[in-house]
Amino acid sequence: MTSDGSQAFVSFDRVQKSYDGEILVVKDLNLHIGRGEFLTMLGPSGSGKTTCLMMLAGFETATHGEITLDGKPINNIPPHKRGIGMVFQNYALFPHMTVGENLSFPLEVRGMAKSEREGKIKRALDMVQMGDFINRRPAQLSGGQQQRIALSRALVFEPELVLMDEPLGALDKQLRETLQFEITNLAHELGITTVYVTHDQTEALTMSDRVAVFDDGRIQQLAAPDTLYEQPQNSFVAQFIGENNTLQGTVSKMADDMCEVTLTDGSIIDALPVNVSQVGEKTQVSIRPERVEMDSSRLTPGAHTLKAEVLEFVYMGDIYRTRLRVAGIDDFIIKTRNAPDQRRLKPGERIEIGWRPQDCRALDA
Ligand SMILES: Nc1ncnc2c1ncn2[C@@H]1O[C@H](COP(=O)(O)OP(=O)(O)OP(=O)(O)O)[C@@H](O)[C@H]1O
Ligand SMILES: [Mg+2]
Repeated sequence: MTSDGSQAFVSFDRVQKSYDGEILVVKDLNLHIGRGEFLTMLGPSGSGKTTCLMMLAGFETATHGEITLDGKPINNIPPHKRGIGMVFQNYALFPHMTVGENLSFPLEVRGMAKSEREGKIKRALDMVQMGDFINRRPAQLSGGQQQRIALSRALVFEPELVLMDEPLGALDKQLRETLQFEITNLAHELGITTVYVTHDQTEALTMSDRVAVFDDGRIQQLAAPDTLYEQPQNSFVAQFIGENNTLQGTVSKMADDMCEVTLTDGSIIDALPVNVSQVGEKTQVSIRPERVEMDSSRLTPGAHTLKAEVLEFVYMGDIYRTRLRVAGIDDFIIKTRNAPDQRRLKPGERIEIGWRPQDCRALDA
């Protein structure tokens, strides 16, 4: 079942994978993806993302557990009936075929007439801005161009499920952003279920319906982009997604929806207890740079504040990014919007900062 209660299109149930019979590179994967959903696997190198895609594609078998596609175990569906489009990290195009023939191949396999094939190939090539390259061979293309062809070949037959492993890795920023937009649009328009792998957290946040954050062979958090960014469930996710300030301390007062944390230098802050439950526990608190307030009149009366010294001010156009020394650390970042009445802080200036306790999360130490 997916989060909205509908039957999952893709399911991983208690899946484990070991390549050598000893080390588990996927430890206990439970993941249910709805039909038409765009799901991204995000995580550091070696965390098991490609392994999960390979198992779903049927190129690797799970050591334990079960993977089902539309309710049927993947192992029982012959490869040509899986209807899966794939773009892998090493995008293998057929070297002896032209671009046009590469794209035509998956359509011919499915018995599509020539007249129908031509329109589909043109559309798929236009999407990746490669319409003029239809007669070239892969060896006559740059790495980024080959990657775009691999992408359009995976989508040309409008598969029910597409697996993409870093499909935009070799492209420049502008082309990457254009294609991010094109891929999500096309996937949603055609109702394609997509499992997408990337290292790039901005890409994950902007493209996905949900993001699964991987680390060490496990999903650390699975949530919609805004939930992931605003409500990280542990320190790994808080630090992996977006910019984040981390303060170390010990819980010194505990209530239901608020706690007090005494930092290593003795100063006291308010936080939301997420991964702590009692006084005396060590914690890492996480606060986003844009949620830090430096105008104490905007804080609730009685809120704790911290004294800070400005170390560096960086003008970034739309925002100001200021680095502070706070509670004994000198890499505390605040971000403020470049508004007409916004003050530009100067190095050496002393200010007071605070935040709403619900924006400051007490996580695992
Ligand atoms: N065929 C293989 N045989 C043995 N070990 C493998 C094999 N493929 C991957 N591994 C190991 O499994 C672990 C997970 O690898 P995987 O390729 O799934 O990571 P990943 O999250 O895709 O990383 P990256 O972001 O670098 O692509 C790694 O430690 C890797 O060395
Ligand atoms: Mg990989």
